[in-house]
Amino acid sequence: MMKKMSLIAVCMLLLVSNVLLAQNKYVGASACKMCHMTKGKAYPVWSTSKHAKAFEVLKGEAAIKVGKDNGVTTPSTDAKCLKCHTTASSAGAANGGITNADGVSCESCHGPGSVYKTKMTNLVEAKKAGLIIPTNAVCIKCHNTEIHKSLTFDFATKMKIISHKNP
Ligand code: HEC
Ligand code: HEC
Ligand code: HEC
Ligand code: HEC
Repeated sequence: MMKKMSLIAVCMLLLVSNVLLAQNKYVGASACKMCHMTKGKAYPVWSTSKHAKAFEVLKGEAAIKVGKDNGVTTPSTDAKCLKCHTTASSAGAANGGITNADGVSCESCHGPGSVYKTKMTNLVEAKKAGLIIPTNAVCIKCHNTEIHKSLTFDFATKMKIISHKNP
């Protein structure tokens, strides 16, 4: 009997945690801004980085050229380009207000933040709620040669360019 009860309890726990994870939505960098301006300067580093402008770049001359080589006429509306150049394009049903204008946002690397952003005073809880500290594996989902044939990527070198560690 006890065994059965604890089995039910475990099942309930799993169910609840799954529901919590399913609620994670992409809310956009503006939802992180208020708390991440000073220490580590995560927001200012991101907003002046190429990631923040990755959607804008799809509207330029260079993008038209890349598009041509890949059978794409309007890169800024084509899923073939948007999938790596914006976070919003892959959000799907988990879109909690993020738009393409955010480019490659915090949540492409740290996971959708609607739940963990309210748990930041306890980082253990925040991580349980989906906060990710990304490694190379996350970067190479986009930094690969699928479209850009001559692209190379070295995690340590590239991370130096966008580093936003707490001093
Ligand atoms: C209410 C304020 C607040 C909001 C909103 C917030 N954070 Fe945080 N965040 C913090 C605090 C406080 C810490 C603790 C670490 C520190 O001192 O910087 C933290 C830590 C982190 C860490 C480091 C975790 C670690 O293990 O060191 C990451 C990554 C992070 N936040 C990402 C985000 C992202 C992405 C968003 C937006 C979706 C966000 N935060 C929104 C306050 C906030
Ligand atoms: C698999 C992911 C991926 C796809 C798909 C993708 N890109 Fe990119 N794109 C990248 C990455 C990563 C970079 C940055 C490369 C670097 O600087 O090391 C980049 C860079 C660029 C640049 C250079 C921007 C600059 O700062 O000069 C242009 C232009 C561009 N992409 C256009 C496109 C177009 C147009 C498409 C669709 C036909 C596309 N990309 C599809 C990942 C992708
Ligand atoms: C391109 C991926 C990427 C983006 C975009 C990104 N981060 Fe990070 N972030 C990382 C990585 C990787 C780390 C691990 C620490 C390091 O090496 O800098 C990190 C670390 C952090 C930390 C912890 C710093 C510490 O001292 O350990 C915070 C806080 C953080 N990010 C917040 C943000 C916020 C807020 C945004 C958006 C405004 C953001 N990040 C955008 C990849 C990213
Ligand atoms: C969702 C796709 C995506 C992910 C994930 C991603 N990037 Fe990017 N990254 C891009 C795109 C697209 C560009 C080009 C933007 C532009 O040129 O406007 C870029 C540009 C950059 C640049 C600027 C190019 C340069 O060499 O100066 C750096 C640095 C960079 N990424 C580092 C990283 C690192 C490190 C990670 C993992 C922690 C990462 N990126 C994860 C899509 C991504």
